[in-house]
Amino acid sequence: MRASAVAQPNIALIKYWGKQDVAGNIPAVGSLSITLDSLETRMTVEFDDRLGADELQLNGEPAERMLPRVTHCLDNLLGAKRSPAVIESICNFPIAAGLASSASSFAALVVAASRAADKQPDTLSLARAAGQASGSAARSLYGGFVELQLIEEEGSPAIAVESILQENAWPMQVIVAITATGEKPVSSSDAMKLSAKTSPFYASWLEHQDHDLEIARSAVADRDFSALAAISEHNCLKMHSVMWASRPPVVYWNKATLACMETVRRLQADGVPVFFTIDAGPQVKAVCLPDFADQVRKALQETDGVIDTMASTLGGGARLLGMS
Ligand code: PMV
Repeated sequence: MRASAVAQPNIALIKYWGKQDVAGNIPAVGSLSITLDSLETRMTVEFDDRLGADELQLNGEPAERMLPRVTHCLDNLLGAKRSPAVIESICNFPIAAGLASSASSFAALVVAASRAADKQPDTLSLARAAGQASGSAARSLYGGFVELQLIEEEGSPAIAVESILQENAWPMQVIVAITATGEKPVSSSDAMKLSAKTSPFYASWLEHQDHDLEIARSAVADRDFSALAAISEHNCLKMHSVMWASRPPVVYWNKATLACMETVRRLQADGVPVFFTIDAGPQVKAVCLPDFADQVRKALQETDGVIDTMASTLGGGARLLGMS
């Protein structure tokens, strides 16, 4: 059977940085994100016993480098005795540049693969399978504002994920400013390990995360934009401080990243409800109330070094597109 699914990247406002269980890929901290709408990855999976091994195509090209992670994810989801699969991935935004393409890819993959194997696990099981491949992917199974929490299950750490506010309940616009298109110098996974081992700020990062989550959760519940803006920017800058203080330092920003942050600061000074966040890459994501989206997009587009901008509302999380 053949199944297709679509998923969108998510942008963390309270970030995941660090793993408590590297083998099981369990995050060291909880996180809170928003799921996007118009950026997406479509995955089609078909199992075929006649194949010798899995085959992966990314935007029509063979994708050897990503294949081991995809194979591993399918083995985790369905067991290593499963049939080999042909996997086709279509992504409508730059890959591996700090735009969470792994989140949308693995979220779409687990939905498509489980249905192609004639299985229908619940959403949390799918989120856990996606999260084993990429910690942030667990959040892309859900829509709107999403919280990932750490829990204990049968004496072992595990994740629990839920949508804390549906995508239409508090409309937001996210403007992504693309400042570079190449692949990032260090993978987030390697950078996290380096931070945990060498950053003098890592322990403090872990210690304060629950407090940041609590503030963000309340801001979402109260629809308090300025409280959400303040805690999101603080948490983002704190995560990058942990990275910068690692040895060797991990710096994902470029000149245009800083210029975009200045643009957002200038808009804020003019009373525009907007804030920035930046992940493991040089792109800047500006989150604003929908009425201000055009103004924010124009200001970012005119910022020195910005190559392009993309805009998105909030979306509903991974879903099945069809089966044949
Ligand atoms: O899911 P990963 O392994 O690509 O790590 C994502 C880490 C950040 O994007 C920087 C933060 C986050 O919570 O998404």
